[in-house]
Amino acid sequence: MKDVRTGTRSQWQRKRVFIRTYGCQMNVYDSDRMADVLRPLGYALSETPEQADLVVLNTCHIRERASEKVYSELGRLRDLKSERRRDGADLTIAVAGCVAQAEGEEIIQRQPAVDIVVGPQAYHRLPELLARVARQSDERRFDGRRRPGAGVLDTDFPVESKFDHLPAPSEADVRAGSAFLSIQEGCDKFCTFCVVPYTRGAEYSRPATAVLREARSLVAAGAAELTLLGQNVNAYHGEAAPSSIGGSTWGLARLIREIAGIDGLARIRYTTSHPRDMDDDLIAAHGDVPQLMPYLHLPVQSGSDRILEAMNRGHGRDHYRRLVDRLRGIRPDLALSSDFIVGFPGESDADFDDTMRLVDEIGFASAYTFKYSRRPGTPGAGLGDQLADGVKAARLAALQSQLGRQQRDFNASKVGAVVPVLFAEAGRKSGQILGKSPWLQSVYVEGSADMIGSIVNVRLLAAYALSLAGEVVTGEGPSRLEVAA
Ligand code: SAH
Ligand code: SF4
Ligand code: F3S
Repeated sequence: MKDVRTGTRSQWQRKRVFIRTYGCQMNVYDSDRMADVLRPLGYALSETPEQADLVVLNTCHIRERASEKVYSELGRLRDLKSERRRDGADLTIAVAGCVAQAEGEEIIQRQPAVDIVVGPQAYHRLPELLARVARQSDERRFDGRRRPGAGVLDTDFPVESKFDHLPAPSEADVRAGSAFLSIQEGCDKFCTFCVVPYTRGAEYSRPATAVLREARSLVAAGAAELTLLGQNVNAYHGEAAPSSIGGSTWGLARLIREIAGIDGLARIRYTTSHPRDMDDDLIAAHGDVPQLMPYLHLPVQSGSDRILEAMNRGHGRDHYRRLVDRLRGIRPDLALSSDFIVGFPGESDADFDDTMRLVDEIGFASAYTFKYSRRPGTPGAGLGDQLADGVKAARLAALQSQLGRQQRDFNASKVGAVVPVLFAEAGRKSGQILGKSPWLQSVYVEGSADMIGSIVNVRLLAAYALSLAGEVVTGEGPSRLEVAA
């Protein structure tokens, strides 16, 4: 049987897919799962679009810049496709992720070289979509012209069908001892700046049994660390596992306690959590589940009550401060991280000062900072008093410098400590490897690549803005890293 896309390759030749991932960790997880769906169709992963038969852009719609990047990338892929066609071959282009969900048909109109637009809840149907494209491609070869609107579109909800139909994870889903596990998707909170409720749909929690099954497979496939993912991961309320005592649903804390019982699993993390969903049990879990790492990404967005209200966050600055006090009461070494948006419509100097004061009061170990980006369809886009880019840029710079100082101080506070590091990859300099501390700091040591994927004790020797240098204190004996000034 000939390959319907090129008509020249025989079937035993492997096909290649290149997947480019934009946006958050949920997209990273989804990209891996798309690779899992495509593998049985004969697709191996390709490192570049040039070597691929199928290119998937797994896109992010969160800020304007993120969306626009997709269209410039599609322009380059169109050229690659034209080249291929001149040579009698072809390239299939698929747009997945949140831009696909938000813009759907418009993508094909704006870039007719796109063959497939597939929303985040429809990845399990990729084989079917590819078959449809192949049929169209055959017809085109037959009559020699591209039919208008030839791209195929699938942006159907609901969320649960995706998880029910995705294959079990494999070793390919574990990277250097770490794996992501999506347990929750979607959002019902409707912050006034945010597109996620529109691109990912209503809040949905996977049943506990399905999550536990996947967690066990990932650990069996080599994961020492699991990061539980969700747009609002701590709003998790999945159907309880059978024969469990106490209620028909489990919260995140209950799920974490159960996952902590899996033999061989050393580290559990979760992201992204919402300050409104930190319940007592979850706070307690930070004190009594040793596998739960002492790092919490808990976005506050702003330190101004007025702006928090306009953002529809559902809590004020004092709620956030009290939460942090309780968490630190239970786990004093907890490293906190947050997202911040500066320049939300109507944000005054006084509002921004409130944010700077909150940052001072809390002390963050790391943070992500963004200029407000006006997103079509969100309530924020329609507000008056949109701020000039210059104002946003100045506030962003002030906030970043304050948070940068805090990150350096936090890193410096760990110098001299011996901490377990999970090594993830080769460092930039030869002979170096790079891993993560329990507080998610990047740590470099001199070490061999065979330590990648394992957890090794490291003495921290020097702190920098974004990383620490250390030396291994177990295993093959101490090895000293030359510390540059
Ligand atoms: N569910 C998470 C956040 C998901 S989006 C939460 O509630 O915290 C990731 C981050 O992108 C947000 O925390 C926010 O800081 C940022 N973000 C979202 N929409 C934005 C916009 N319109 N402009 C700028 N930043 C935005
Ligand atoms: Fe977006 Fe708010 Fe939902 Fe987070 S909680 S995903 S910021 S709407
Ligand atoms: Fe972006 Fe969608 Fe994630 S908009 S941040 S990829 S949920």
